[in-house]
Amino acid sequence: MVLDRTAPKVRAICCIGAGYVGGPTCSVIAQRCPHIKVTIVDVNPVRIAAWNSDTLPVFEPGLDEVVKECRGRNLFFSTDIDDAIREADLIFVSVNTPTKKSGVGAGYAADLHYVEASTRRIASVSDAPKIIVEKSTVPCRTASSMRVILEANSRPGLRFDILSNPEFLAEGTAIRDLSAPDRVLIGSLSTPEGKAAARALAAVYENWVPPEKIFTTGLWSSELSKLAANALLAQRISSINAMAAICEATGADVDEVAHACGLDARIGPKFLKASVGFGGSCFQKDILNLVYLSDSLGLPQVAAYWKQVITMNEYSKARFAQKVVQTLFSTITNKKIAVLGFAFKKDTGDTRETAAISLCKDFRSENALVSIYDPKVPEAQIWLDLTEPGVVDDGQKVKQQVTIAASAIEACKDAEAVVIATEWDEFRTLDWATVYKSMKKPAFVFDGRSIVDAAALRKIGFQVHSVGKGPEIQDPVWA
Ligand code: UDX
Ligand code: UDX
Repeated sequence: MVLDRTAPKVRAICCIGAGYVGGPTCSVIAQRCPHIKVTIVDVNPVRIAAWNSDTLPVFEPGLDEVVKECRGRNLFFSTDIDDAIREADLIFVSVNTPTKKSGVGAGYAADLHYVEASTRRIASVSDAPKIIVEKSTVPCRTASSMRVILEANSRPGLRFDILSNPEFLAEGTAIRDLSAPDRVLIGSLSTPEGKAAARALAAVYENWVPPEKIFTTGLWSSELSKLAANALLAQRISSINAMAAICEATGADVDEVAHACGLDARIGPKFLKASVGFGGSCFQKDILNLVYLSDSLGLPQVAAYWKQVITMNEYSKARFAQKVVQTLFSTITNKKIAVLGFAFKKDTGDTRETAAISLCKDFRSENALVSIYDPKVPEAQIWLDLTEPGVVDDGQKVKQQVTIAASAIEACKDAEAVVIATEWDEFRTLDWATVYKSMKKPAFVFDGRSIVDAAALRKIGFQVHSVGKGPEIQDPVWA
């Protein structure tokens, strides 16, 4: 889109929320727009101190380099939220919007508490017009509520324009996704002021994104598009995971089925990798949100349709754990199970909704001894995840059942089975012969990501079960 002369110029940006989305997104904006001052603020001083240190709070390939290039130049991390709001022409609201744990819509609706708190703060400290951008994934029509709060709490006559600019980056590839996005979506009101605000934000992206990749829609379409995109992506994974169950029962190979389907240009090859189940902060939360929205709109059939994507994901995780138990002669009591990978996908240290939590919970409830290794997830985070209310009731027993290993080799020593929960590259190239020697026999590998060379492992002596790959069923020999 082409910049209009009447669009306000953005000279200073504030991002509220220095998390997985706000941090990398606004770091890349600072890198690509050296003429704009970007200040990322957060209520959490520990997080801000980490952003100002050599050990960033978010592991993301390429992020260190971007931050090193810009920090102190035009990129700043601060806890002084009010100052950054006052100074900015444009404010990204990038705080978390978790699923509500209690009250109306508990278990489904997004908790907008932090978005509202940020909006109230903007209203109370602003002394000049601002463009406010929803970066957080929010339910449809959140912008309306923000407008009411702003108007009721700000200086009379002060102008605020609200935009929706959902972020489509995926963790692990965030810098690549931000540097060369498939699209930048900006939702605004269709008033001249709304359009001018959208143009001002578009002009920021035009510093590095080709104009044809930046497109504008109405506010509500933009808000809903983020939920819709995540729902469609997650639905593909649940669909292929449903096929994986059929493959395991029939001897078909889900990777071959996915490849055959993906060659159809209408289907395409991406996001058809069968797995132990999807994780991450977005898919489950956003679908639950969509289910809640559909129900609230009196569309129970639509709600049930999307709910099934989550149900299938839960089934995939539980089915995988059951397979481990059944294969290990129906008992894993006191058996050591090595869990390789704890992050919800490779190249991130993020564990939100990771399938590994659910697997470890199931193995523990069967009284197994679990040894976990992940190259990037801090040990303290794993303990936190395993002792979350709802995951386990007895914090003490966790320490008797679970150990955290410093390497994959260490995790697998004396184990009866290895479970690959995350597709880290180092598990593909692990010295599997050494692993085999150190394990109890028969030695099992359960590949929840279908990444290892199963034939090579079988040659070593392993019994291998890969998700979506059934036992080879011989054709009947006809007399
Ligand atoms: C983001 C989005 O904002 C969320 O809506 C989307 O669905 C997923 O990605 P993310 O960046 O991953 O969330 O969340 P998180 O890493 O938890 O970061 C949010 C940050 O906001 C935290 O550092 C938190 O301390 C901060 N915060 C929260 C504030 O600064 N102020 C608040 O009032 C609340
Ligand atoms: C997702 C969306 O991809 C991104 O556009 C949005 O902004 C945020 O939510 P993210 O959750 O970071 O990003 O990672 P993604 O690559 O989508 O993976 C999500 C989960 O699905 C992971 O657990 C991953 O392992 C799993 N997955 C992904 C599969 O099981 N199979 C696939 O084919 C793809």
